[in-house]
Amino acid sequence: MDDRIITGEVTEEDGFEENIRPSRITEYIGQTEVKENLDIFMKAAKMRGETLDHVLFYGPPGLGKTTLSYIIANEMQVGIKTANGPSIEKSGDLAAILSSLEEGDILFIDEIHRIPRYIEEILYPAMEDFRLEIMVGSDATSRHIAIDLPHFTLVGATTRAGDLSSPLRDRFGITSKLQYYTKEELTQIVLRTSKVLNCPIEKEAAIELAGRSRGTPRIANRLFKRVRDYALVLGNGTIDLKITKVALERLKVDALGLDDTDYHLLRAIIERFNGGPVGIEAIASSIGEEQTTIEDVYEPYLLQIGLLKRTSRGRVVTEKAYEHLKIPYKEK
Ligand SMILES: Nc1ncnc2c1ncn2[C@@H]1O[C@H](COP(=O)(O)OP(=O)(O)OP(=O)(O)O)[C@@H](O)[C@H]1O
Ligand SMILES: [Mg+2]
Repeated sequence: MDDRIITGEVTEEDGFEENIRPSRITEYIGQTEVKENLDIFMKAAKMRGETLDHVLFYGPPGLGKTTLSYIIANEMQVGIKTANGPSIEKSGDLAAILSSLEEGDILFIDEIHRIPRYIEEILYPAMEDFRLEIMVGSDATSRHIAIDLPHFTLVGATTRAGDLSSPLRDRFGITSKLQYYTKEELTQIVLRTSKVLNCPIEKEAAIELAGRSRGTPRIANRLFKRVRDYALVLGNGTIDLKITKVALERLKVDALGLDDTDYHLLRAIIERFNGGPVGIEAIASSIGEEQTTIEDVYEPYLLQIGLLKRTSRGRVVTEKAYEHLKIPYKEK
């Protein structure tokens, strides 16, 4: 998966994301409902002179959770501190982060579902009462201390809301699920990126790119960057439809935005499991991928576009997928 261009996950290539990331809510394309609600909650908090309630964003990788968190900090005109669930390994790590906060700050915790449960408990009083409660010392000398924290807004992001404990989930006042973007929205995102990077793209080419981006802005931007290279070397620098199609074919991204991994996954179910139903564990071991990677990264889009179906007995490849793969469909 490492060299997979169309994964929504962050790769080294995304270094240029910083410049093309919208910083104002009005520049943020799509997710209309999430955006409109957030806008109201932020305005209300400002009118009351309070910090924004804690926010949880969830949804597949690359849909704009981090971007929205920075937008909140920008719009609320407050500082932002960031942390990553997996790197919080001891209670002290979280205590250090919390005690570094200043009044009004946003604390953005990415992959918040990966904080160990016993450390997570430190967040409960911090979120509810802005108090840091920890045990210091060991055995006979151990005692409980409590420190007042400044008011802050915790913004949590996760690809797996189901993995969050309910006490933690319940402490977020605002919970927003990010959806895959429409082709029209992605077209706008591509056109915006083209402007920001000062690299022209023809409208039809932008639409073509958008259609192959798996509903995901990060993928749209990444494909844009690659196609730009082809246009520069093989064409005259302008990204037109022809060069876009050539580039995407070379990158092995098909008309629906599927790549080798998707084909591999669908074919494995068809060929080895007669199209399903088959359990996720069996699929994972059959194609040599982590189960969670399949569930979080590959599968959601295949489900979304109707090539895969989830049933109580496992995953089933749909007739539409057989058609797309040009494999004859047998009625079962
Ligand atoms: N609504 C949007 N409009 C324009 N660009 C966007 C939008 N949402 C995301 N992007 C772009 O897509 C890229 C990925 O967004 P972001 O990093 O916020 O995703 P994420 O949901 O945090 O992903 P992950 O789950 O991997 O952390 C960024 O480069 C950002 O510029
Ligand atoms: Mg992110």
